[in-house]
Amino acid sequence: MLVLGIESSCDESAVALYDTKKGLLAHQLYSQVELHAEYGGVVPELASRDHIRKITPLIQGLLKEADLTLQQLDGIAYTAGPGLIGALMVGTCIGRSLALGLGIPAVAVHHMEGHLLAPMLETPQPQLPFIALLVSGGHTLLVEVKQIGEYKILGESLDDAAGEAFDKTAKMLGLGYPGGPAIAEKAKQGREGLYRFPRPMTNRPGVDFSFSGLKTFTLTTWQKSEQTEQDKADIALAFQTAVVDTLLIKCKRALKQTQCHNLVIAGGVGANTALREKLNTLDATVSFPRLEFCTDNGAMIAYAGSLRLAKGEHEEARITPKPRWPIADL
Ligand code: KG4
Ligand code: ZN
Repeated sequence: MLVLGIESSCDESAVALYDTKKGLLAHQLYSQVELHAEYGGVVPELASRDHIRKITPLIQGLLKEADLTLQQLDGIAYTAGPGLIGALMVGTCIGRSLALGLGIPAVAVHHMEGHLLAPMLETPQPQLPFIALLVSGGHTLLVEVKQIGEYKILGESLDDAAGEAFDKTAKMLGLGYPGGPAIAEKAKQGREGLYRFPRPMTNRPGVDFSFSGLKTFTLTTWQKSEQTEQDKADIALAFQTAVVDTLLIKCKRALKQTQCHNLVIAGGVGANTALREKLNTLDATVSFPRLEFCTDNGAMIAYAGSLRLAKGEHEEARITPKPRWPIADL
């Protein structure tokens, strides 16, 4: 079964072709980072307009790269939520309409299920059951996955998502957008041990997260400093280390609590090198997607959709993006 995946939930237009026998055939992505950079964050209306411009040429380029035609597709998978409503509408409308025109099934994919399954695109694939740490710009979740499609949320962020905390902190420090890579880069010049930031919610039981206090702590520390470039680097490092340590502690707890030995990391913050290094020290089998599949991409949507299409799932010819869509509803 040959599946076209379309992702347009935020600021990346991305498409991919996944074949259930041959695996991932091709994937292409256009990032809107430059478009939003001057505003210091994603401007939803600009995002949706740009998706309209980019998705169709991306699909054409993708088919050309794989030497395939639209008529050879067996199904289409598109991100239906969660995300920005206007941006979701673009992928949803194009995906659903193409499927209708071609007379093939289409399936609505949950963006976070896409992220969660991205490590399955790697060889060897992670073994089930596993615990997934989903750390993106909008979500921080610890999920127990016994079967694909069966997701039990063990813990989540009570306020800011980990990626959001990176983005807001970077903005405060004047490091620009997107904040995660900017903080990681600046932290390379930071001196270790100069500051000790709190590891939020680690001194009480449970695997929920909270990052907004850490963000405020960072701001106060920055305001009290002399605000030199070196201070900025030291504070970026202290912030990153605090987030990484917190995530490590909660992953350790989730593994212990479920007696599971497999940990899967997914979502944009999963691209953070310090996080990858720290989690690799855990006494568990830890799997990450390749860097380009940590952040938003079409491959994860094509893959997640192919599993659902192969089981005979498909959507009615209705367009129903869901800007809010709890993964537990799947
Ligand atoms: O998964 P993703 O591409 O989009 C969402 O679904 O939200 O994640 C984007 C988030 C942003 O907050 C970005 O700052 C963060 O992932 N991110 C990083 C890194 N690369 C991206 N955070 C920390 N370190 C990185 N290297
Ligand atoms: Zn994402």
